[in-house]
Amino acid sequence: MTTPRKIIIDTDPGQDDAVAILLALASPELEVLGITAVAGNVPLSLTQRNARMICELAGRGDVRVFAGCDGPMVRRLITAEHVHGKSGLDGADLPEPEMPLADRHAVDFLIDTLRAETPGTVTLCVLGPLTNIATAFTRAPDIASRLEGIVLMGGAYFEVGNITPAAEFNIHVDPEAAEIVFRAGVPLVVMPLDVTHKALTDRSKVEAFRAMGTKAGAAVAGWTDFFERYDKQKYGQEGAPLHDPCVIAYLLQPGLFTGRHVNVEIETRGEYTLGMTVADWWGVSGRPANAMFMGGIDREGFFALLTDRIGRL
Ligand code: BDR
Ligand code: CA
Repeated sequence: MTTPRKIIIDTDPGQDDAVAILLALASPELEVLGITAVAGNVPLSLTQRNARMICELAGRGDVRVFAGCDGPMVRRLITAEHVHGKSGLDGADLPEPEMPLADRHAVDFLIDTLRAETPGTVTLCVLGPLTNIATAFTRAPDIASRLEGIVLMGGAYFEVGNITPAAEFNIHVDPEAAEIVFRAGVPLVVMPLDVTHKALTDRSKVEAFRAMGTKAGAAVAGWTDFFERYDKQKYGQEGAPLHDPCVIAYLLQPGLFTGRHVNVEIETRGEYTLGMTVADWWGVSGRPANAMFMGGIDREGFFALLTDRIGRL
């Protein structure tokens, strides 16, 4: 087997973040150097705790979890309990974590790790607002060029928005951070709502997780059951979009996704469009491409991968 790819997962769990983390921890192709928690779906005190609960559920109490920024760079924190529940992980009953939180700020961990590892060997998988990453880039501009790349869930183009009519949650929460990251010159792969709204569960997919008869399978089924009530009501469709697992699935099987290498700018001033990802899908701006912006997914292939890997836990 080839050497596993080194990744750091930056996250605000969140049920879909949790499934993404389980997918990564179940996959031998990936070596998780650490998990950095950020404020987003719920406050930092809960996201760092949830990240540790998820590691323990995967039997991986050895993974280091770091707490990062407790709010956006310049704005007030917006959270999403209306989607994820009060804990961020409503839907499964997990015990309080026993593993300790790592004794270092997530931003310090990101900077130290990227300076210590061989340049071009570490990929950041970003599943929440980009606050930790932009803060690290601002404090240590040298680290951006040391990354292999960033794969992130955020933004939308044809699907427009979920937290506002024009913006997706992760980008809207901290648009200034997103702007820094999108302008950093790092190879960027973006999983916007255009993709993740096609990564929909349905009854048989959820029941397949439950039928595994494992703690992880039961948790994934419980989380998606909880999570889907909001999207079903909102979009009138069956199932929940598994946004964040698309990031990890891309690292494992990039062929599941299709997209275009285009220019993407972040709206940081719009009265109605704050946090919009202005993706030049039609190549009309003349601005240089800075992101691989995905649009399509092989849904059955995605769920086959997810079911196979969660079944190994
Ligand atoms: C994103 O926002 C959060 O609610 C989810 O965890 C996902 O990262 C989807 O807009
Ligand atoms: Ca998330």
